[in-house]
Amino acid sequence: MRKLLVGAVATAIVSIAVGIVIAHPTTAQQAAKKVEADSVVAPRLTVADSGQLKGPKQPIFFRHDVHAGQYKIQCQYCHYSVNYASEPGIPSLQTCMGCHLAVGGSDSTHRAEIKKLRDAWNQKQPVEWVRIHQIAKHAHFPHMRHLKAMGPNACGTCHGDVTRMPQVFKVNNVNNMGFCISCHVERKVSRDCAVCHY
Ligand code: HEC
Ligand code: HEC
Ligand code: HEC
Ligand code: HEC
Ligand code: HEC
Repeated sequence: MRKLLVGAVATAIVSIAVGIVIAHPTTAQQAAKKVEADSVVAPRLTVADSGQLKGPKQPIFFRHDVHAGQYKIQCQYCHYSVNYASEPGIPSLQTCMGCHLAVGGSDSTHRAEIKKLRDAWNQKQPVEWVRIHQIAKHAHFPHMRHLKAMGPNACGTCHGDVTRMPQVFKVNNVNNMGFCISCHVERKVSRDCAVCHY
């Protein structure tokens, strides 16, 4: 019974959060229905599985397939600066706790990982996420320019289908000029050295 109640709270919170990022939210209930209707349930995994998954192991087993996949939370809800800044931004604990003060997790793995998050919050210790994509200092990559040209949902073009990743990994080697140039050639974008290099 208690579990059911927590589940209901979780759904309500998520629909509120999803409502914020949808341009014209209807009611929380309609939003909740919508979230469930087109959701693909993420597979059940334990922390032990994270070692076998592609990509670096993170300090908390945070799953994009749960958040951006099953619960359809928009990328921009967390990577909020992606449309106006070079860097998409990694969400602060405050963003996480907007939901996780209430959402405690529906199985033992989820509960244990969410506990790590709550402990970090209580101790005011930021989580040290392992960075995956990072180009050398002599080059720069403006996210906002790309999303303006390619549309706000173009993330997958470079990052693959993150909504199905239990752990993020590199789909494309971004530390390779050829990756940039081949698309710039295809789309007739500038290839001047100074556009990308300082
Ligand atoms: C609930 C918040 C949240 C949502 C929603 C979310 N992300 Fe993330 N994202 C994170 C956090 C936290 C990290 C750092 C930990 C990690 O890599 O898993 C991250 C990391 C990433 C990374 C790797 C960053 C690096 O170090 O190179 C990519 C790429 C990414 N997210 C893309 C996306 C895309 C695309 C979406 C939407 C489909 C999305 N994210 C939705 C929170 C979120
Ligand atoms: C909009 C609401 C929302 C936000 C924001 C959010 N979460 Fe979650 N999170 C959920 C829901 C819903 C679940 C699923 C709970 C369940 O059924 O176990 C979940 C599950 C989890 C889990 C267990 C499953 C998994 O992903 O491994 C962890 C850990 C977690 N969240 C961490 C985070 C972190 C870290 C952030 C911030 C970067 C964050 N969450 C932001 C709603 C949210
Ligand atoms: C045209 C290719 C491309 C597209 C489209 C793209 N990215 Fe990236 N992304 C990159 C590259 C390249 C980097 C490394 C940038 C750097 O090191 O400065 C990166 C880095 C990131 C990071 C890590 C940043 C950090 O501070 O740790 C996140 C998170 C991310 N991208 C999320 C997204 C999201 C969300 C979208 C869609 C809204 C998106 N990206 C669209 C190429 C792309
Ligand atoms: C999938 C296609 C694609 C990939 C991959 C890509 N770009 Fe781009 N890039 C574009 C498009 C389209 C534009 C044009 C944006 C505009 O018109 O403002 C652009 C514009 C830019 C600009 C601004 C150009 C200007 O005229 O000021 C820079 C800088 C840039 N890209 C750097 C990079 C770097 C660095 C990489 C590799 C890490 C990269 N891009 C990978 C498609 C891509
Ligand atoms: C569209 C963006 C873009 C353009 C245009 C571009 N580069 Fe690059 N270049 C990159 C990226 C991204 C890297 C890889 C950085 C890294 O190692 O993470 C790179 C790497 C390099 C390297 C270093 C190699 C290394 O091994 O680290 C050299 C040298 C270089 N570029 C020269 C040039 C010259 C000369 C031009 C003009 C003819 C040019 N680049 C145009 C994006 C670009």
